[in-house]
Amino acid sequence: MLRLALLASGGGSNLQSILDALEDGTVRGLNPVLVAVDRECRAVGRAMDAGIDAVMLDRRIHGAGLSAALGRLLDEYRIDMVLLAGWLSILDSVMVNDWTNRILNIHPALLPKHGGPGMYGLNVHRSVLESGDTVSGCSVHLVTGEVDGGEVLGRAEVPVLPGDDPGTLAARVLAEEHRLYPKIAGEHARRLTPRYPELQSG
Ligand code: GRF
Repeated sequence: MLRLALLASGGGSNLQSILDALEDGTVRGLNPVLVAVDRECRAVGRAMDAGIDAVMLDRRIHGAGLSAALGRLLDEYRIDMVLLAGWLSILDSVMVNDWTNRILNIHPALLPKHGGPGMYGLNVHRSVLESGDTVSGCSVHLVTGEVDGGEVLGRAEVPVLPGDDPGTLAARVLAEEHRLYPKIAGEHARRLTPRYPELQSG
């Protein structure tokens, strides 16, 4: 069983979908032991409800040292895999390189389109609507030193409908995120776990 940390900055609905999938056994092989946040947010309450330690790494206090503080926290909790679930602070390349292939993120568009610096929250959906794309969706990818630039592990599509605004499109994409992220997280855990066949039969 891999020890999992979830990092969030907001509502934490993706975090919740992953905790739910682990709780009901839809996804296996991951033991969520830590939620880290970089600001006060709803994700903390969700962690507490699930009986998981929640730690705040305040971006106003840690500043440029946030990534190093996070690295120490992950070591302290003996974390094997990290899921960014609406985490907004950019992780520096030293920290990301230490965790190569073990940090995943979800992005609310079909990468490589509509990704990169500044592409977060409703900005992403505005960009999709302005582009005239008729299909959007979400992407789960490995985190590297390039913002939203790591290998894409899975995508799900939704239609862009006439009359959509950034909010309606965001809601349609988010519903798909909640299906995609737990599935891809479980698949990645399997790749990282040599003993996974035993886990599956046990
Ligand atoms: C999601 O749209 C996710 O793709 C993006 O931030 C949003 C987080 O939502 N990275 P939530 O906090 O999981 O509800």
